[in-house]
Amino acid sequence: MEEIKLVEVGPRDGFQNVCDFIPTEIKLNIIDKIAQAGVRNIMITSFVSPRAIPQMRDAREVAGICLERYPRLHLSALVPNLRGTQDALAAGIRELAIVISVSEAHNRANVNRTPAESFVELGHIVDNCPEAQITLDLATTFGCPFTGQIPLEQVQAAVHQGYDLGIRSMTLCDTIGAAHPAQVRRYVQALLEQFPDVEFGVHIHDTRNMGMVNTLAAIECGITSVQAALGGLGGCPFAPGASGNTSSEDLVYMLNHMGYRTGVDEQKLLEAARYAHEHIKGNFSGHQIQIAPDKTELFS
Ligand code: COA
Ligand code: ZN
Repeated sequence: MEEIKLVEVGPRDGFQNVCDFIPTEIKLNIIDKIAQAGVRNIMITSFVSPRAIPQMRDAREVAGICLERYPRLHLSALVPNLRGTQDALAAGIRELAIVISVSEAHNRANVNRTPAESFVELGHIVDNCPEAQITLDLATTFGCPFTGQIPLEQVQAAVHQGYDLGIRSMTLCDTIGAAHPAQVRRYVQALLEQFPDVEFGVHIHDTRNMGMVNTLAAIECGITSVQAALGGLGGCPFAPGASGNTSSEDLVYMLNHMGYRTGVDEQKLLEAARYAHEHIKGNFSGHQIQIAPDKTELFS
């Protein structure tokens, strides 16, 4: 069976939606448990305005410590603009997810720009920061919290804009968990066909309990890079009605048992999720964290 790259986004998407500040020490402990479970790709923080997301005000510290501790892992961060890109690069992070929403209304709410303005800024980033390894995160690909459905043509146009700037790595984000498997198949198949040299990943929220089926639908169409968050934490504070991401420990359980190769120890990842659940007051939506430990061990 195929190899699947799991990108753990709990320390970014999960933490950003938690109201109380999570002590940096606890964040680092959770990241460590994720790394010990064998996850090789971790989005550890975001370099955003502390006024927009106060939770991420320790981004530099988290980045500095993690880069020293895990020199062989792929550590990434989300950035919304040139300033965030420069801050992330100065902190030593090279792998950057630059977020632009397909939907104009959500891009305005999220980063206070039109998508067109954000693409102009992306052009400046490409020109000025050659050392950045950029992934374009296309938020609201499958639906917008303000305007509803997003037609495939609008997504194709956004991918085209990124493509024309030289971007060959993109994430299709279901920011508010609006997609269903038939839509995921239609969008993913069309994009893979139209842009065969772009590496697409998916990032799917579980608002309507479809995170797992939608992620699996994407994999069965040929996607090999999937994002998920520990404990099913997550959500965008600027997308009303959104809830957590697909839970990474539940997703890894499914993929490992189906025979996909994730390289992740599902029991250790579940322990990491339990630790997060014990130490953070957030909207956990993972299923296995609610099962008694002796019952989950039976299926390891
Ligand atoms: N990191 C930290 N500070 C930043 C910043 C960044 N990436 N980008 C801008 N700032 C600061 C500016 O220096 C300025 O500071 P000052 O008031 O002390 O001079 C202030 O923020 C306003 O700058 P401006 O460019 O006008 O930003 P804005 O108010 O239009 O906000 C964003 C735009 C993108 C910075 C803000 O909306 C943001 O950080 N959004 C992140 C949203 C997010 O993370 N969503 C969840 C993930 S999808
Ligand atoms: Zn998200």
